Amino acid sequence: MNTKHNRQDLHSFLSQHPSIHPERRAAAVPIMQALQKERGYLNDAAIEEVAHLTGLSTTEVEELATFYTLIYRYPVGRHVVQICDSVCCSIRGADELLVAAEKYSGVPLGAVTPNGALSVLPSICLGLCDRAPAALVDGEGLGPLNKVGLEALLRSLGEED
Ligand code: FES
Repeated sequence: MNTKHNRQDLHSFLSQHPSIHPERRAAAVPIMQALQKERGYLNDAAIEEVAHLTGLSTTEVEELATFYTLIYRYPVGRHVVQICDSVCCSIRGADELLVAAEKYSGVPLGAVTPNGALSVLPSICLGLCDRAPAALVDGEGLGPLNKVGLEALLRSLGEED
């Protein structure tokens, strides 16, 4: 798929049919996803680009980017493990898992491993409270997590080239 071509098409479509997308926030999400697929994350220039394409302010786009768990504002590894640190998961051991994740991955939370393979991010509630402590692994739900399983997971993902 040619993402750049698709963005041009979308921009043209939005310009010609503004009444079809009265709620431009709805249009912003797939645009952000397309840009992230192309670039790996959304830097400030990408946020401005989405604002330009949708007619939203950069603040509104920033709010959307912050709200959506799978939109990244900073570089991430090829694999992303997001560990929930909200209430249900926290009382079931997520805080210990986050500390352990730094040890197992070898880098601080939010950082990318030197080989570019892995990032571990803390996250707000993932909607997997019944599986607490829960995580998303490349967008797929996982839980309940324990230290043994987390270590095996992170070592496996972190070793991939
Ligand atoms: S509190 Fe962790 S998934 Fe909801």
